[in-house]
Amino acid sequence: MTPLFPVKPYFITTAIDYTNAAPHIGHAYEKVLADVMARFQRKNGREVYFLTGVDQHGQKVQKSAEKAGVSPREFVEGVTEHFTALWEKLDVHYDGWAATTDERHQRVVQAILQRLHDAGQLYKKSHKGFYSVRQEQFLTDKERGPDGTFGAEWGEVVELEEENWYFRLSDHVEWLKSFIQSHPNFIFPANRAKDVLNALEGAGQDLCISRPVERLSWGIPLPFDPRFVNYVWFDALTNYVSFAGYLAAECGNDQLPEFSRIWPADAHVIGKDILVPPHAVYWPIMLHALGFPDNQIPQLVVHGWWNVKGAKMSKSLGNVINPDSLADTFTPDGLRYYLMRDIATGQDSDFSEERLIMSYNKELAGGLGNLLNRSLNMAHKYRGGLLTTAGYDDAENAALRHTVAEALPAYISAMNGWAIHEGIAAVWKIVTHANAFVDSTKPFSLAKDPAQSARLDSVLYHLAEALTHVAVLLSPIMPEAMAKARDQLGWDMPAGFHFSQLSWGLLADGHQLSSPQPLFPRLEIQTPEG
Ligand code: MSP
Repeated sequence: MTPLFPVKPYFITTAIDYTNAAPHIGHAYEKVLADVMARFQRKNGREVYFLTGVDQHGQKVQKSAEKAGVSPREFVEGVTEHFTALWEKLDVHYDGWAATTDERHQRVVQAILQRLHDAGQLYKKSHKGFYSVRQEQFLTDKERGPDGTFGAEWGEVVELEEENWYFRLSDHVEWLKSFIQSHPNFIFPANRAKDVLNALEGAGQDLCISRPVERLSWGIPLPFDPRFVNYVWFDALTNYVSFAGYLAAECGNDQLPEFSRIWPADAHVIGKDILVPPHAVYWPIMLHALGFPDNQIPQLVVHGWWNVKGAKMSKSLGNVINPDSLADTFTPDGLRYYLMRDIATGQDSDFSEERLIMSYNKELAGGLGNLLNRSLNMAHKYRGGLLTTAGYDDAENAALRHTVAEALPAYISAMNGWAIHEGIAAVWKIVTHANAFVDSTKPFSLAKDPAQSARLDSVLYHLAEALTHVAVLLSPIMPEAMAKARDQLGWDMPAGFHFSQLSWGLLADGHQLSSPQPLFPRLEIQTPEG
C-alpha cells in the first residue's frame, strides 16, 4: 500500500550500495545510522519515509558477472540478496527499496535525460585520449608515473577517439557556489561545505554521462541515442527522486509515494567519499537544471568512515570486516549499539574488536543488562514482582527522578543533531545513576528491616520506572533488546507512543513486573591481539 502523508513525513535516504561485492561493516553502519534516525523521528512524533537500495548497473558489475560466468542480472540478484538479508538481520526497516534495475526507475532516468536533452542541457562531443584496454577507461595525466609513462597496471594503452554525451554542468557552477554560501544547512557537518567550495574553484568541466554500448551494455540506454547507455550518476543519484514518485504519472509508475507530499528529502545520508563531486556538485546541479527551486534541494548528512587500524578496509589488505558474522556473535543489537556509540557522525572511527567486546560485555551485559536483572530479581524476591508507589520518598529518590527527567531533553537534542553517541551517553547517565542507587540504597539490607518496608518499595519502584524510560529511549538503537526489556518490565509501549509522553509514572501503583531473563548474556570471548 502506498502510504499517504497528510503532513510531510521525515524523508530519509542513504547512498545506494554497489552490488559488485557483498556488504561490509561500512555499509552496515550507514544503514543502521539511517534506521536509528528513522526510528527516532517516529518516536519523536514524525511520520517517516525511509528509502534505501542498491546500485546495480555499471562497468564493475558487468566485469564481475563476466568473471563469474553469469549474466549481469543474475549476478546483481545474487549480491543484492546479501544486502537485503543483512538489513533484515540488523533490523534495518525501510519503507521503499531503490534497486536501479527496477523498470520504474529506468523510466524516470530516461524521462529526466530526455527533458534535459530537450532543454539543450546535453550535447555530444568527441574525446581523444589514452585508453587502457585492460581497465577499460580513459587515462589522464594523473595516471602517469614520474617518468611520464602509464604504469604496467594499466596494461596495453592505446590512443583512442570516442564520442560521448555530456551534461552542461559548468553552466550551473556559479549558481551552486551562491546556493552553498546562502544555505548553511545544505551539508552536515557544516565544515564540509568548504571542501565543496574549494573543489568548485576552477571547475569548468562538463560531465560525461554516457558510454558507448560496445563498451558498456549493462546500463540504461539514452532515450535519444540508444547507441549509448547512461554512465553512473544520472542513474544512481536519480534513485532519490524516482522512488519518491517523481514523474510517476508521466512514467506510468505506481506503488510509489506522492512526490509533492514527501519531497524534499530531509536527509541524504552518505559517506564522505561520495560528497565531492557526486552529491554536493552533480546532484544539486541536476536538480537545479531540472527546475527544482532552491528550497527543494535536499540536505546532505555526511558520515565518516570506519577504518581498521588506521587503514582503509580493502580486499587486497584482507582487512574487510564482515557485519554478518559479528551480528551472530554479538547479536544484531549488540552490533548496532557498538556502531552507534563508537563514532561521532561526520568523523572517522577505527573498528576494533576489543572495543566491540568491551561495549558488549562491560556496557550492555555489565551495565544495563545487570541493572535490569538485579532490579527485577530483587523485586521478585522481596515483593513477588508487585510495585507499590505510595508511602515513602527522600532526596536520593528525587535525585534519580531528576536524572531521568534531565536525560530526555539532552537525548532529544543530541539525536536531532545527529550526535547519536551523545544521545546514548545522555541515556547512560540514567543507567549509571541507577546502578549507583542500588549500591547506596542497598535494597538487600532494607529487606531485612521491616521498618524500612516502605522505603524498599520506593527503591524497587524507582529502579523499574527508570529502566522503563531507558527501554523507550534506547529503542531506536536496540529495537529488539529494548522490546524484550519492556516485556520483562511488564510494560507495553502503547501504539503511537511518543517521547513527549515520557514522564515519571509510566508504571502504575500495583504494577506487576514479568520475569527477569539475562538481556545481554555475557560473552566468553578471547580478546584478539593488537
Ligand atoms: N553506489 C554508490 C553510491 C550511489 S548513491 C546515489 C556507492 N556505493 S558503495 O557501496 O561504494 O558505498 C555505499 C555507502 O557506504 C557510501 O555512502 C559509502 O560512503 C559508505 N561506505 C563505504 N565504505 C565505508 C566505510 N569503510 N565506512 C563507512 N561508510 C562507508 O558509493
